[in-house]
Amino acid sequence: MKRKILIGLLVVLVVIQFIRPEKNNGQADTPQDLTHSVQVSQPVMTTLKTACYNCHSNHTDYPWYSNVNPVGLWLANHIEEGKEELNFSEFSTYDKKRKDHKLEEIAEEVEEGHMPMPAYTLVHQDAKLSEAQKTELIEWVKAERKRLAQMN
Ligand code: HEC
Repeated sequence: MKRKILIGLLVVLVVIQFIRPEKNNGQADTPQDLTHSVQVSQPVMTTLKTACYNCHSNHTDYPWYSNVNPVGLWLANHIEEGKEELNFSEFSTYDKKRKDHKLEEIAEEVEEGHMPMPAYTLVHQDAKLSEAQKTELIEWVKAERKRLAQMN
């Protein structure tokens, strides 16, 4: 009985390797990206690119293990959901209200430590935000929301 379960599991593992989710291989920097509607300083951009862009832009730098399922499927799912919520590559296509709301959420998620996802920083140590980086992002959000509000 145990043997059958084990063989069954192995078969499933082999079979799911044939599921190849579509890669997020587009351009991260586009004519619609966030830099075309908000001002982003170099340090803030570096933080966003290191800590957020893999799941919130049109381009992901994939680790080798993304080719191994079920991990690959799990990553693909995060990227799809992450982009749906917030896509920096298309940020400038959002209307004014959505831009403001997304900026607000960025500060919230970062402040509460929900983003970048803890599962991500476990593997990507460089994506872990220092207190200084968090403060910098939150201040950036404040300034840009204010600037957006003053524009028509
Ligand atoms: C490993 C992938 C991953 C990384 C890296 C990541 N996110 Fe996310 N993010 C997601 C997913 C998946 C969701 C949607 C599900 C959820 O809200 O948990 C999301 C949702 C969000 C939301 C919307 C929350 C809401 O409730 O509407 C914001 C804002 C956000 N992320 C900001 C960031 C910022 C800022 C960074 C970098 C500092 C970042 N994320 C890094 C995967 C990621």
